[in-house]
Amino acid sequence: MLSWMLQEKKIAILGMGKIGSALASSLVRNRIVLPENLIGTTGHRESALEASKRYGLKVLTDNVKAVAASEIVILAVKPQTMKKVLTEIKDVLRPEHLIITLAAARTTRFIEDHLQKSVAVVRAMPNTPCLVNAGMTVLCPGRYAKREHLQIAKEIFASVGLVAVIDNEELMDAVTALSGSGPAYAYIMIEALAEGGVKVGLPRSLSTVLAAQSLLGAAKMVLETNEHPAKLKDEVTTPAGVTIDGIMALEDGGIRVTLIKTVDRATEKSKELSQ
Ligand SMILES: NC(=O)c1ccc[n+]([C@@H]2O[C@H](COP(=O)([O-])OP(=O)(O)OC[C@H]3O[C@@H](n4cnc5c(N)ncnc54)[C@H](OP(=O)(O)O)[C@@H]3O)[C@@H](O)[C@H]2O)c1
Repeated sequence: MLSWMLQEKKIAILGMGKIGSALASSLVRNRIVLPENLIGTTGHRESALEASKRYGLKVLTDNVKAVAASEIVILAVKPQTMKKVLTEIKDVLRPEHLIITLAAARTTRFIEDHLQKSVAVVRAMPNTPCLVNAGMTVLCPGRYAKREHLQIAKEIFASVGLVAVIDNEELMDAVTALSGSGPAYAYIMIEALAEGGVKVGLPRSLSTVLAAQSLLGAAKMVLETNEHPAKLKDEVTTPAGVTIDGIMALEDGGIRVTLIKTVDRATEKSKELSQ
């Protein structure tokens, strides 16, 4: 269904890389926006041509042109490219524009200050599973963003997964470290579990499916039953059974503290990059 709020809106996605193109293709595939209302940009002509061909969208290398033709601007360039892009587009931004920034470690204040305009900015931290409608996006409004701006951003990201909103932007570093980077941690777990299956004789392709579906199923159980993960774990762990031996090996390897440290370390890195 085409969204009533987004139906007439023209959207520019500046930076049709991994996350920008995942979002663009999902928005079109889920009929949240019409392809003719979406313009993308990239840094190079070849990548623009390739993205245009692959997603059936207009993809340019001219940010000014894309912004001038849009009402919602999604900034999906690398954090280090942000200043350059903001400098390029600041004169063409109109007061009614909504900017949604996806860049890690770039605050709404950074963008507002650079633009020197009272433009509405919403910071979003999505993740790549947006591509399969299983994304997790956390939103945080900037100084000039009103309720309706946040609502538009919610509608965009709700079409590709779950959405949460926070007011304290300082927590966006923790969000980046947990759900922004989280899929990478999960891929390592899937890969390692699959190796375990191979070690005990399962064919690799079957082993990978077993590992991935087990993580997917467990994640759905947590989200859909609202039970504490520890209780769900206890339900699988029969006394003197198979699972407890597996858990013993996991605990012996320090999995809990490793995962806690993973998020802690990545949060520190995000804070460092924000400086
Ligand atoms: N990947 C994720 O899982 C993820 C999740 C959440 C947030 N983010 C954030 O999203 C942003 C993009 O990340 P990514 O992983 O998608 O990076 P990426 O794959 O490297 O994509 C960056 C894109 O920006 C384009 N670009 C470079 N210079 C540009 C310019 N001057 N104007 C317009 N486009 C330009 C690049 O085009 P060329 O290839 O032609 O240079 C490329 O299409 C980052 O700020 C990141 O923090 C990423």
